[in-house]
Amino acid sequence: MSAHRTALEGFEPFEYDAQGRLRCQGLALDELAERVGTPLYVYSAGALLERVQRYKAAFAWAPRLLLCYAVKANGHLALLRLLAREGLGADVVSRGELERALRAGIPPERVVFAGVGKRPDELERALRARIYQLNVESAEELSAIAAIAARLGVEAPVAFRVNLALELETHPHLATGTASSHFGLPLDEARALARSLPEGVRLVGVHTHLGSQITRLEPFVEAAQALIELAEALKAQGHPLRALDLGGGLGVAYRRSKDSKDSKDGMKQEGAVPGPEELGAALRPVLQGALEELELTLVLEPGRSLIAPAGALLTRVLYRKRVGGRWVVVVDAGMTELLRPALYGAHHEIVPTRLDAVAPSASPTEPVELDVVGPVCESGDVLGRRLRMPLPERGAVLAVLDAGAYGFVMSSNYNARPRPAEVLIDKGEARLIRPREPLERLWADETNGRPILRLESPKPEGS
Ligand code: LLP
Repeated sequence: MSAHRTALEGFEPFEYDAQGRLRCQGLALDELAERVGTPLYVYSAGALLERVQRYKAAFAWAPRLLLCYAVKANGHLALLRLLAREGLGADVVSRGELERALRAGIPPERVVFAGVGKRPDELERALRARIYQLNVESAEELSAIAAIAARLGVEAPVAFRVNLALELETHPHLATGTASSHFGLPLDEARALARSLPEGVRLVGVHTHLGSQITRLEPFVEAAQALIELAEALKAQGHPLRALDLGGGLGVAYRRSKDSKDSKDGMKQEGAVPGPEELGAALRPVLQGALEELELTLVLEPGRSLIAPAGALLTRVLYRKRVGGRWVVVVDAGMTELLRPALYGAHHEIVPTRLDAVAPSASPTEPVELDVVGPVCESGDVLGRRLRMPLPERGAVLAVLDAGAYGFVMSSNYNARPRPAEVLIDKGEARLIRPREPLERLWADETNGRPILRLESPKPEGS
């Protein structure tokens, strides 16, 4: 059992008490699961705010800093509101995320909008709201923005999102700054576009986003250098640049146990993953002077590194069985609640919420090798593979850790499963901030065949 205590070292928001109960700000998680039911997402406001402070302190050297939280990581209004109160801005990729951010009280002048496929209505809404900048990813998008701005009679603040074609060690699905990625503009194209900007568009920034779950500092430093060079050149051409936006992407240590190895899928997850402090220290020599000289605001778009460790997914053990030589523990959460393991082969630590809730027959102190699987009818519905832990009892509640980012937001209704409930723990008080989705909601917008609208059938060709 002590294995779990070691595995949890460094997990601030969730800690075992002397009796072996996992607690968050004093509240026992198994009790919470009992009251609200499972599956259940739990977030610690304190852990989130602590990470915000760490970022602010780590970049205190920047002449001006705009922290734009990546709403895609977890866009719950309650969390966004906490961040709004801390003065954070938002990085959004859709109209929906923009509306969320604004509803939560994030001022439009602290919102940046990225994405390769912004629709005309999304661009119009962003321009009307007067957001800080649109991060442009193609020449065609730039002309679309110019046309809309002209129609609205406004000047559109844009930044070029450049693809720096760097080598990145992360899961291929998470790398956006590599040469073959479809994100951003190649550097030379960005330079060329800057020489013939359409009317109605003001080039106010340079932007890049390397990708996600990046656990080395060098790519950030390289990217910062490249952006500074680009900013210098554009400024020399007379563009009114005001922002250097380095995107997000700093990783977290999903795998905490010291003896674990890198996963085979290319996701470097363990060992010493740098935190905001290390990132700030590495970037300072490259950026501080240049930002001052060029009078640029440093924009960062962290998502995962702010919110992942602040959240856990609680799930109950339904059944255990032996398959081949190993144990399989079937729980009531799966890829519908947390897609990351199924989609990326991502690792999340899974720990019992009570260290005494282990099967008596399994000799509690002896960890066994087991898989934790979900109830969805897919062989990929595995939350944890080859974990070593004492066999949990039926009915025991397990906590899937580091699930605050890209957890609930990537959940689905597959297999007609309602979305899980969400609880925010703030100053020792647990608040239900989203109830479990009622089943009726799943078909609320469907008809039994009665048309909501009769659409004219297309005329056959030649008629
Ligand atoms: N800025 C832009 C333009 C982005 O595309 C992203 C993430 C971020 C910031 C925030 O990156 P972060 O700091 O969270 O790494 N679903 C995947 C992650 C996809 C990230 C997409 N873009 C996962 O579960 O790992």
